[in-house]
Amino acid sequence: MMAEVLYITAHPHDETASYSMSVGKAFIEQYQIANPEDTVTPIDLYKESIPPIDADIFSGWGKLQSGGQLSSDEERKISRLKELSDQFMNADKYVFVTPMWNFSFPPVMKAYIDSVAVAGKAFRYTEEGPVGLLTDKKAFHIQSCGGIYSEGPAAGMEMGHRYIKTVMQFFGVPSIEGLFVEGHAAMPDKAADIKSTAEAEARDAAETF
Ligand SMILES: Cc1cc2nc3c(=O)[nH]c(=O)nc-3n(C[C@H](O)[C@H](O)[C@H](O)COP(=O)(O)O)c2cc1C
Repeated sequence: MMAEVLYITAHPHDETASYSMSVGKAFIEQYQIANPEDTVTPIDLYKESIPPIDADIFSGWGKLQSGGQLSSDEERKISRLKELSDQFMNADKYVFVTPMWNFSFPPVMKAYIDSVAVAGKAFRYTEEGPVGLLTDKKAFHIQSCGGIYSEGPAAGMEMGHRYIKTVMQFFGVPSIEGLFVEGHAAMPDKAADIKSTAEAEARDAAETF
């Protein structure tokens, strides 16, 4: 069955100046080779407009409840959020690519998550608590960090992958894998090795994603 894949990247640079983007490229290119019928839609969060939830959005939401007339800013921002969340719900698979910045991902990734985390679409509230609605999706997250976070003393400080995983679980996504490209700042002599090993792991993982 043909799948719709969103390739969501939160990096100001391309693969020539970024470990995560380079490993992400290896993953998505291999994925497309393995699944030529699938559609891969890139979402470059540094180029797309991702409206942060602000006063216009709150006032627009209020007017949608009360029946008031939306201003052009309210209308534009809210319809863009809807476009982003519709696109997310209509996809089958998500590939996230992020650098680690201060233990987590760049802020535009959080803005994107805020745009897709819509009650009634990604999850719904029940008497037994919230239930995820995206139970037929898959997610893969590639994160690059200067230090080591997959194990060892800093593991508890890792909040990028943990956050994305938590949100995907909350949405009901049953399969969430992570690949860390890590330790090149801690071990500069191993940097080239870390990158090429991660690219090979990414290609392997892409075959079965
Ligand atoms: C603003 C900023 C914050 C960073 N914070 C961390 C950090 O908390 N922990 C860490 O191990 N490396 C940190 N680094 C290093 C990056 O995680 C590392 O260079 C990684 O390779 C970035 O991904 P990229 O190669 O895709 O750009 C930081 C880098 C920048 C630019």
